[in-house]
Amino acid sequence: NTVTKFICPMPLPRVLQPESSTYTTDYYTIRMKEARKEVLPGRWTTLRTFDGDFPGPVIKAQTGRRVVVRQINDLSVVTSIHLHGAHVPQSSDGWPMDTIAPGGGSKTYTYPNEQPHANLWFHDHAHHVESENVYRGLAATYLLTDDIEKGLNLPKGEFDVPISLRDAHFDHAAELVYTMGDRARECVVANGKTWPYYEVRARKYRFRLFNTSNMRFFSLKLSDGSSFAQIGSDGGLLAGPLQTTSLALSPGERADIVVDFSQYPRGTHLVLENGLAPTPDSPLAQVLQFRVTQSAPDSSTVPDTLRSLPTLPAPVSERSIVLQSDETGTDRHGYIDGKVFDPDRVDSEVQYGATEVWTVTNANENAPHNFHIHLVQFRVLERNGKPVTSGPESGLKDTVTVFPGEVVKIQATFTGYRGKYVYHCHMLDHSAMGMMATLQVV
Ligand code: C2O
Ligand code: CU
Repeated sequence: NTVTKFICPMPLPRVLQPESSTYTTDYYTIRMKEARKEVLPGRWTTLRTFDGDFPGPVIKAQTGRRVVVRQINDLSVVTSIHLHGAHVPQSSDGWPMDTIAPGGGSKTYTYPNEQPHANLWFHDHAHHVESENVYRGLAATYLLTDDIEKGLNLPKGEFDVPISLRDAHFDHAAELVYTMGDRARECVVANGKTWPYYEVRARKYRFRLFNTSNMRFFSLKLSDGSSFAQIGSDGGLLAGPLQTTSLALSPGERADIVVDFSQYPRGTHLVLENGLAPTPDSPLAQVLQFRVTQSAPDSSTVPDTLRSLPTLPAPVSERSIVLQSDETGTDRHGYIDGKVFDPDRVDSEVQYGATEVWTVTNANENAPHNFHIHLVQFRVLERNGKPVTSGPESGLKDTVTVFPGEVVKIQATFTGYRGKYVYHCHMLDHSAMGMMATLQVV
């Protein structure tokens, strides 16, 4: 690997402005199209983008205000756009077969935003091609805020920074190489640049981290081993901040952290490292570099109580879910409960309003998986028989890691909309191979 690290500044994603707004609704139009971007320093890469941007642009939404997005597909592949973590009607959920035709087809998605604040993201979900489409760039950020979040005095404005992390593999012409099941992608890309640096003032910053990789797991830490505060996860803020020195993020997961750079002298260089690299000297062991510049006034605070989490209703039913992949031959498959995805089959029929406990097992001996359910934010009750009452998985979640042999118990309440939604492994090669199933709320 000959890519020089830490020579490009990390860009911030562009914030989209609504095309029009009414008293209740903001309207956007996004064109999915190919674009050439400088991802590797001085080289140009062809990407599949939202509106020509890589990383994808940001939609800023507010609880109680609707967002309507018209997606126009100027690519040469089908797409279906899913707002990950959102509570939306089936018709706007990006059902894997409800695709937008290439060459100019369009579809309008309505997002009611009747849910608390959360760091959401939208990405392609068209069955079999979602993994490659996301890998080639079809991922963007959607920040939903509400009065609870706005009432806190967390770092804001230029000190509140979204960062999308992923890995990538480039050929000699700097074009992305996509191979299903490939875990040998050796470059880390943060906000669209390989191993960027980011200049920070010596004060607190809020970073909203998104793992938009197909397959890559990160365990993030600062190179000096300092602790930082994790304040949120997939479904918004945790009940209170969690001081930690490392942060695990599987594909699709998000974390919200506050790092205090005021402890560092001007000129300090710190690297955000990845403890899940195959070897400590692998290029994947580093993510980006922070460069501390001069100090800056800081009146932000991280309070001991961030929010109150909803109380857990008593469950009315239970089901068990088994994840398994078979990647041994050239014929790769992903299974949920022994079956590959069939859009015409309903795998789990759920009563409207029901609270259910799902026990999710990874039946593989070597392959990790993770588990994502559409429509709901769930709670993690237990991991391998141990209750989860504190820590990074104690907040609202929509995606949870299930390492080989692990068993994770989650609880969700299925309400708001009836209809068909999917649940799947969010290692997108696995869902593309069929590790996906249908739930129907009746
Ligand atoms: Cu982020 Cu069904 O997906
Ligand atoms: Cu998987």
